[in-house]
Amino acid sequence: MEVDTGWKFIQQDAGVGAPVTSTWEDVTIPHTWNALDAQKGKAGNPGLPEGYFRGPCWYVRKLDIPAGWKGKRVFIRFEAASLVAKTYLNGQLLGEHRGAFTAFCYELTGGLNYGGSNELRVEVDNSHREDVPPLAGDFNVDGGIYRPVHLIVTDPVCITPLYFGSPGVFLAEKAVGSDAATVEAQTLVSNGGPGPQKVAVRTQVADAAGKVVATVAGDAQVAPGATSPVTMTFTVAHPTLWQGRINPYLYTVTVDVLRDGNVVDEVTQPLGLRTVAITRENGFLLNGQRYPIHGVDRHQDLRDKGWALTPQDHERDARIMLEMGVTAIRLAHYPQSEYFHDLCDHNGILLWNEVSLVDMIRDGPDFAANAEQQLRELILQRYNHPSVAFWGLFNELGNLPGPAPDALLTRLKSVVNELDKTRVIVAASDKDHRSYNLIPDWTCFNTYPGWYGKGVAQDMKAYIDAHAQEIGKPIGLSEYGAGGNPAQHQEGPPQKVDNKGPFHPEEYQGYVHEVDWAQIQNNPNVWGSFIWAMFDFSSAKRNEGGAVGVNDKGLVTQDRKIKKDAFYFYKANWTSAPMVYIASRRMTPRKVATTEVKVYSNCAEVALTVNGRSLGAVKPDGERICRWENVTLAPGENRVDAVGTGAGERVADSCGWTLAP
Ligand code: GCU
Repeated sequence: MEVDTGWKFIQQDAGVGAPVTSTWEDVTIPHTWNALDAQKGKAGNPGLPEGYFRGPCWYVRKLDIPAGWKGKRVFIRFEAASLVAKTYLNGQLLGEHRGAFTAFCYELTGGLNYGGSNELRVEVDNSHREDVPPLAGDFNVDGGIYRPVHLIVTDPVCITPLYFGSPGVFLAEKAVGSDAATVEAQTLVSNGGPGPQKVAVRTQVADAAGKVVATVAGDAQVAPGATSPVTMTFTVAHPTLWQGRINPYLYTVTVDVLRDGNVVDEVTQPLGLRTVAITRENGFLLNGQRYPIHGVDRHQDLRDKGWALTPQDHERDARIMLEMGVTAIRLAHYPQSEYFHDLCDHNGILLWNEVSLVDMIRDGPDFAANAEQQLRELILQRYNHPSVAFWGLFNELGNLPGPAPDALLTRLKSVVNELDKTRVIVAASDKDHRSYNLIPDWTCFNTYPGWYGKGVAQDMKAYIDAHAQEIGKPIGLSEYGAGGNPAQHQEGPPQKVDNKGPFHPEEYQGYVHEVDWAQIQNNPNVWGSFIWAMFDFSSAKRNEGGAVGVNDKGLVTQDRKIKKDAFYFYKANWTSAPMVYIASRRMTPRKVATTEVKVYSNCAEVALTVNGRSLGAVKPDGERICRWENVTLAPGENRVDAVGTGAGERVADSCGWTLAP
C-alpha cells in the first residue's frame, strides 16, 4: 500500500531524536523542498550558492501496525529520495541509500511494535556529494522524497523486494520470433521464517484479454533467512509481439509462490515480447524491422512542482509527446519514474535510460562503487519494461576538469553486459575523438549548430558525417535544438541570436529545428535523433531569453501551457492525422507590413486567405512547410485562415495579427 499521506517535514537538520513540533509542516509524497526556490534562480537566491537550497532535511511518519501483522513480514519501499536518504524505524537506523533516482527497500519486521504506534523518520540530504553522481549538470538536484512510498506486507516466505529495490522477478527474453517466444523467468524467493521452507513457484502468462497462454512451475527448498533464485523457462506460441507505436502489445506475467498448495505471495510484471538492435546497414531494428527513432529528451521537472510529479503529470507529459508523434524518449540525465515507464510500455514509446554521469567523474573507489550501484539498481528495477531499449553510460564527460573516465565506463559497460545483453549500450558525447567515445556500442552526440558556437544550423549535416566517420558507423543524435521564448518574436528573415542573451525569439527556434530536421531525416548516418528538449525545465544557474532559472530549449513551456511553433513543426512531420498550423501566431502586434506566412501541415495542400482574400494553395515541402512570401498586412487587425485538404479530410487553423501603425 502507498503511504504517501500523513508525513511531517522540516527543512532543517533536526536530527533523529528531534521532537515533531508545530514548526514541522504536513506534506504529502511526492514532495520536494525545491518546488519553488529554484525558480528564482541564482539571481533570486543570493544566499544560496547554487540558486536553490541544498542540505539535510527530515521527514517523519507514524506507522500504526495492526497486531494481526505479527508473524508477517513488513517492508518499506521508497521509489526515490534525493540525494542521500537515511531511514530510521523507532530511532534505529535501517540504512543509508546514496542516489537520487532509484528505488530502495528495507525490512521493518523485527523492529515494529505490533498493535501499537511506530515512527518512520528519514533524513534526506540533497547536498552536493563528491562520491555520489551527478556531480554537475545543467539541471537542479531537487531534494526530497519525490516519488511514491510503499508499505509491503507479506507471508514469511515471499518474493523479495530487497534485491537492489527490484521487483524480484526478472523476465529474460531468450528467443523471440513470430512462431514462438522463449522467456527465462527468474524469481528470488526469500524465507524469513525460522525453518527451511519447501515451496512451489508458478509462472503464468496471460495475453491482453487475460487468457492464460503459458504456465510453468518449479519447486524450491529455501533455507531459513536465505533468498534463493528459482529459474524456469516458458514459451509463448505464435506470440503477438510488442511493436512500439504500431502495436504496444502487452502480456502480463504473474508469479505465485505456493506453500502446501496455497498462494503465499504474488508479483505481476509486464511482458512485451520484442527484440531491439542497431545495425550499420539498417539502423535501429525493432523485431528485426527498421523502426524510426525520432524522439525527445525529457527532464522530470514541472513548473511550481520541481521533481515532485504526480501520476497525472506523467500522463499529461506522455499525452503531449504522443500528440507530437514521438517514438522514443531519452530520460535525461537520470533514471525516472516507474509509472512513466508503465505509460511508455502501454503506449509503445521506446526509452533511453541513463545513469547520471554528467560533465565529469571523480576518481576513487566510493564514486565508482556508487555509480555501479546506481546502474545496477536502474537495470534491475527497469528490466521487465519492454519500452526500455537503451542503457546510457554518460552525458558529455569532460565539460569540467576531472580524471579520464575510460576505466569507469569500461567497468559500467561490463555491468550492463553482465545483467542484460538484450538492450543497446549508448552514451551522449559532445567531444570529438575521445577514446571513451568508443566504449559504448553506439555512441551518440549532442550538437547545437546555429545555437552554440560560431556556426549555423546548416552545419548539422557536416557534423553528422564527421562523427559517423569518427566512430565508423551511424550515430544517434542524443541532443539538438535551440532556445525559444513564446513571448519573444523576430520579424523578417531569421537572425542568429545570442544564446546567453535576453532575447530568444520563438521564430528563431522554429527556424533552427526546420533546418536541423531537413539534415537529419532520411540521413543514413543517423539511426535516431532526440530533440533537446521536450519541455522547458528549471536550471537555477541560467538567466537568459527573458526567463530566470529556466532552460528554454523546450518545445513546450515548463507549465505545459504553450506548445511552441516547433512543436507543431514536428507534429506535421511525425504524425499522419491531418493537421494544419499557422506559425508565428503569437507574433502580434507587428511593425513590418510585408511578411512571409508559414504553415506547418501534413495535408496534401493548404489554402491560405488573409482578410478574406485568397492567396492560393500550396503543397507542403519535404519538411511539411507551406510558405507564402511577401504577404502584405493591412494596418490594424488582420485575420489569417489556413485550410488543409487531402484524402477527403479538411482541417483549418486561423489567427489574428495586428499591424501596428
Ligand atoms: C548539453 C547538456 C544538457 C544541457 C544542454 C543545453 O548538451 O547535455 O544537459 O541542458 O546541452 O545546453 O541546453
